Parts: sequence; structure tokens; C-alpha cells
Amino acid sequence: LRALKRVVQLGAVGGLGYASYEIYNKRHPLEQKPFDPKKRTVVVLGSGWGAVSFLKSINTDDYNVMVVSPRNYFLFTPLLPSCTVGTIELRSIMEPIRFITQHKSRNVKFYESECTDIDPESKTISITDVSDIKGSVSNTTVPYDYLVMAIGADNQTFGMKGVKEFACFLKEVWDAQKIRTRLMDCVESAGFAKQAPEEVDRLLHMVVVGGGPTGVEYAAELHDFLKDDLEVWYPELADKFRITLVEALPNVLPMFSSQLIQYTESTFKQNKIEVLTKTMVKEVADKEIKVMDANKNLVSIPYGLLVWATGNCPRPLARKLMARIKESQTSPRGVLVDEYMRVAGAPDVYAIGDCTFSKYAPTAQVATQQGLYLASVFDNLARIEEGQNKKITPFEYSHQGSLAYIGSDKAIADLPFLNGNVSVGGVATYVFWRSVYISNMFSFRNRFLVVGDWMKSKVFGRDVSRE
Ligand code: FAD
Ligand code: NAI
Repeated sequence: LRALKRVVQLGAVGGLGYASYEIYNKRHPLEQKPFDPKKRTVVVLGSGWGAVSFLKSINTDDYNVMVVSPRNYFLFTPLLPSCTVGTIELRSIMEPIRFITQHKSRNVKFYESECTDIDPESKTISITDVSDIKGSVSNTTVPYDYLVMAIGADNQTFGMKGVKEFACFLKEVWDAQKIRTRLMDCVESAGFAKQAPEEVDRLLHMVVVGGGPTGVEYAAELHDFLKDDLEVWYPELADKFRITLVEALPNVLPMFSSQLIQYTESTFKQNKIEVLTKTMVKEVADKEIKVMDANKNLVSIPYGLLVWATGNCPRPLARKLMARIKESQTSPRGVLVDEYMRVAGAPDVYAIGDCTFSKYAPTAQVATQQGLYLASVFDNLARIEEGQNKKITPFEYSHQGSLAYIGSDKAIADLPFLNGNVSVGGVATYVFWRSVYISNMFSFRNRFLVVGDWMKSKVFGRDVSRE
């Protein structure tokens, strides 16, 4: 018992030491070396998973590094669905990019702007300040020696009219904010004096399109919010809330094992989330969608809130580059790269993460590993230039498993084990889900804030005030 007490004490002292070191470190960035004109310049496009993983690992003793992104922060997307209902606050999963760049040995330049064009011949990019406030210069060109594209992807709409106008996406901070506001607007309007019963039904019908992990996790978070909070604070509306998930394929979560698909669908059934499979959205209007159901009938579904999560498509910048070098870029689904992450047809341009089209799924896991890999490639290039004998090997992905939250404190996990796969689901998996995400966060600050938010929402409930 005494030994156990000692271990606990040592653990507590170690944890406190680690926390103090992290806090001190964060608040006292290193003095950095300036840009060195004799070094090559690497320009990184983006501040998401791929870019930040690359930035954290690139050795700035070897290169000048510049980052261009319209977002001056990194966003921990796996917890974004939790922000749509206030389980977690958005700022808890955002990390200012300067908290990362200020800890490099050499100054890293950051421009909050969008790259609008890449010219692989002149090795320059065009950048535009897209913020509302502008100085006297808001467009310019920047030269690069190496370019790393980590610009992510856009929301897939299949060019369907009405989607951008009436639906909410779930990719960025502003998407989560918009969903949270619209949801509360629907609830308050449903409670408006003398509201017509059919309007109450429509306003409180939340429809999610796309049964991939984004749609499933959003529906799960929404269910928890309805059960834990909205039904308590709006008892007069409690029996009117409805959630429907629309999926074109025969089942949700096609990337998970069949037993976890069944487990998810039965959990959704218990939670009264209606899942319409083999049902494809064909039209989107302001108050209803039209779907082709499993029997090939065109059916109208009225909604109050519509969340659209039907996957990714290339961003305009990626499409523009692909059009410039169309002889080498033969897939419309993303930038083609070789196994060294080099963009086909554009020398010294590399691409990682969701902007690429490859055999890998567009996940944070892949983007992170590609960012790490690319930093090691640049390390080897620098060593080779110094005359050392280094070999650059192709990228190899190591799958760590798939996880998803499915509501009511349950999660599912497909985990690689020996040469096979273990599929687990339930409350214990949910605890595992939380611990994995906490340990995968890029900073101690984010971990601290997220754990605080979880405790806050458990103790006081989620905030139902409209933002
Ligand atoms: P992103 O992280 O999207 O970053 C792209 C960056 O490029 C952004 O900073 C953007 O502002 C910037 N940018 C855009 N256009 C330009 C431009 N023209 N010029 C310069 N910069 C530009 N994956 C998992 O593995 N596990 C999960 O649990 C998981 N959960 C998710 C939950 C949600 C709700 C979502 C939406 C995705 C989730 N994903 C998850 C997928 C994961 O977020 C993506 O695969 C990952 O973000 C891809 O990283 P990336 O660096 O390619 O792109
Ligand atoms: P997705 O591409 O995985 O799923 C989109 C779904 O929408 C598909 O199942 C598709 O059949 C359906 N769909 C398309 N058009 C439709 C229509 N008109 N009507 C009805 N259904 C339609 O997209 P998602 O979920 O946005 O995920 C994108 C990427 O991010 C994936 O690689 C995913 O693995 C990853 N991700 C991972 C998470 C996790 O690991 N927990 C969480 C969220 C995303």
C-alpha cells in the first residue's frame, strides 16, 4: 500500500512538473534566428492537420519557413461536432498558429491570407488578404524554393442547387457556430406564440444528410443535447424533437466493420434517430428536401435545420493547379502525388492530406503522418546537400484504427490488432475515445480547456442561449 501511495505521489509530482513546464514554455517563446538568405525557403499552404504536423517537425535550422493560410489557427476537427451543441467551446479546440511557429529555432513567417494561384514555372504563389480589414496591400506574389500544399478540401455538394444556400456544413469553426445558432433559432421559433402545429413539427425536425462519420457524429451529439438539455428546458416541446439521417448507400459508416455498423444503427434506433438508408437527396429548398427513397419514390421531407455532410471535393486552388498541369493531373478528385508526396507535373511542389487523391482515406490520421513524413524528407534533403549519404524512402501509412462517437456515451472503434482487427463498441469505448482524442491534441492548453468543458457541461448542462 505504501509503495502504491509512493507511485501516486510520484505521478502527481510528475504531472504537475509536466503541466508547469508546458505552461512556462507556452508563455516564454524562444528567441528565434532570423531568415537566412542562404537557406532555401519552404512555403506551407494551410494551418490544418497536415501543415501543423509538418511545421512541428521541420527543422528550421535547415530552411526558412513561411506559412500562408486564411485561418491563423489550427482546428482539432474530431471534436468539432461537440461544439455544435456546446459540449465543448470552439476556442478550446483552436490553437493559434503562432503558439506553434514561435517555438521553432528560426523565425517562421505567417501570412493570414489565401493562396489564389500557384505558378510552378516561376516558382511563385499569389496570395490575397481575405479578412474584412485590409491594409494598403492585399494582393501580392511570394517566391518559393519548395511548396507544401496542405489546403484540405471543400464540402461536396454535387453542384446541387440550394445546398450552399439552405444547408449548414460541418468543417470549419463558423459552420459549428452557424449550426448552434440555427438550432436554437428553430427551437425558439417553434415555441413562438400560436405557432401552427405543423410548423412546430417542421422546425423541430433536424435532418442530417450523409451517413459518413461526420453525419453520424453530428446526429449523435444532437441527440445528447436534445435528451440532456433541450427536453429539460423546453418541456412543452419535448415530444416534438426529431432527428433523421439520410444516407444514399445501404448502410451508414461504410468504412467500419459490419458488426459496428449494426451496433450504430441499433443504437440510433434506440435513441429514436431515424436512419433512412438507400435514400438520396435530389433537391434542397428552404424548408424541405426532396429525396429518392429506397422504393425509387420522390418524397418531400420538411426540416427546420439541415446539416450537409456528404464528403469532400477539391478546393478551387487545387482545381486551378490541376488545370494548369492537366497532362499529369488526370483525376478530378484531388491532386495526384507520387509515393514521396511530390505533385505530378509540378517540380518542388509537394501535397499532403485531404487535397490529394490517393489510396488513403481523407483523414487527420493520414494528413498527420504525411506531414511528419515530409518533414523527414526535407531533413534528409538537407543532409544530402551537406554531402551525407541519406536515402529518401517512400511514404508508408500506419493505420492506428478508426473511432466514432455514436451518442448516449457510446463510441465505436475498429482497431488493428496483430494481423487482424478488433471491433469494439459501448461505454468503455467512449472512455477510450475521449482519452485518445485528449492525448492526440497538439497542446497541453487545448487538453486542459477540453477537459474543463467536459466537466462544465456535465455539472451545469450545456448552454441553451442563442449566440
Ligand atoms: P485541413 O485540416 O482541412 O486544413 C486545411 C488548411 O488549409 C486550413 O487551415 C485552411 O484554412 C487552409 N486553406 C484552405 N484553402 C487555402 C488556400 N487557398 N491557401 C492557403 N491555405 C488554405 N479525421 C480523423 O482521422 N479522425 C477524426 O476523428 C476526424 N474527425 C473529423 C470530424 C469532422 C467534423 C471533420 C470535418 C473531419 C474529421 N476528420 C477526422 C477528417 C480530418 O479533419 C481531415 O482529414 C483533416 O483535417 C485533413 O487535414 P488537411 O491538413 O489536409 O486539411
Ligand atoms: P464521407 O465521404 O465519409 O461520407 C459521406 C456520405 O454521404 C457517404 O456515405 C455518401 O454515401 C453519402 N451521400 C453522398 N451524397 C448523398 C446524397 N445526395 N444523399 C444522401 N447521402 C449522400 O464524408 P464525411 O463523413 O464528411 O467524412 C469525410 C472524411 O473525414 C472521411 O474520410 C472520414 O473518414 C473522415 N472523418 C472521420 C471521422 C472519424 O474518424 N471519427 C469523423 C469525421 C470525418
